[in-house]
Amino acid sequence: MTTIAASLVVCFLVALSQTASLEPPQQSPTWPPTFSVGFQEEQHVSVIPLSRNAGAWYYDFANRRARFDHSHGQYDSFCQRVGLSPKDKHGDCQLFFSSLGMHVHYPREQICCRACGAEEGCTVLMPTWLTGATYMGTETIGGLTCQGWVKPGAVATDRWYQTADGKPCQYWEKVTAFVPHVIHVITFNVSSYQLGPIPASVFDVPKYCNVTCPKPYHPPHGVQGSP
Ligand SMILES: *[C@@H]1O[C@H](CO)[C@@H](O)[C@H](O)[C@H]1NC(C)=O
Ligand SMILES: *[C@@H]1O[C@H](CO)[C@@H](O)[C@H](O)[C@H]1NC(C)=O
Repeated sequence: MTTIAASLVVCFLVALSQTASLEPPQQSPTWPPTFSVGFQEEQHVSVIPLSRNAGAWYYDFANRRARFDHSHGQYDSFCQRVGLSPKDKHGDCQLFFSSLGMHVHYPREQICCRACGAEEGCTVLMPTWLTGATYMGTETIGGLTCQGWVKPGAVATDRWYQTADGKPCQYWEKVTAFVPHVIHVITFNVSSYQLGPIPASVFDVPKYCNVTCPKPYHPPHGVQGSP
């Protein structure tokens, strides 16, 4: 074989192996219109742990509704800052998103309020929220190989990891609007991931949610909701 032919073969093999091993996704992922998943959630301020708790997402963009549950131990900023006065501020807390806006609910104490509406950007997160995100390569999370994307925003940098077949691995957020920066990590339980219809009752906002929060949420100008 001539040298040129041999190097062409080598080039071809290198190209082939790169295609097989890297396969960078051509575009950022889009969320399915309806899914639910459980998770463990952590927040850190620099390296200091702030909170660790369980939770779940019920996402139903198909019907323009969602419910994000932050279980006992939560330091969720919406649950904490809207001015509700539960006996246990860090108790189970649910965020409802619908055409009525966002409601913050402490189900054990049955207290609830409306934090904001569509005019403040409190709508269900778009399935295309990762549009424009940059692919970061793969990372092993909970024993799974996950593909990561990063998207810098005005108040936070978001990272999203999912398996090659689209199951959520992790959501990572660094809130850069304040110093010290808070890092918020949601690691999904892939075995609990379900696609397809969610019972409508999951999204029923309790009747006693008919009051405006003592401290309604006002987002920084031009910023859309995030997970
Ligand atoms: C993950 O989800 C599965 C299925 O819902 C459940 O059986 C299991 O207990 C969950 N694991 C954790 C650590 O929560
Ligand atoms: C809110 O709903 C409760 C019933 O759950 C009712 O007693 C109350 O009058 C309502 N408040 C307002 C402001 O509509």
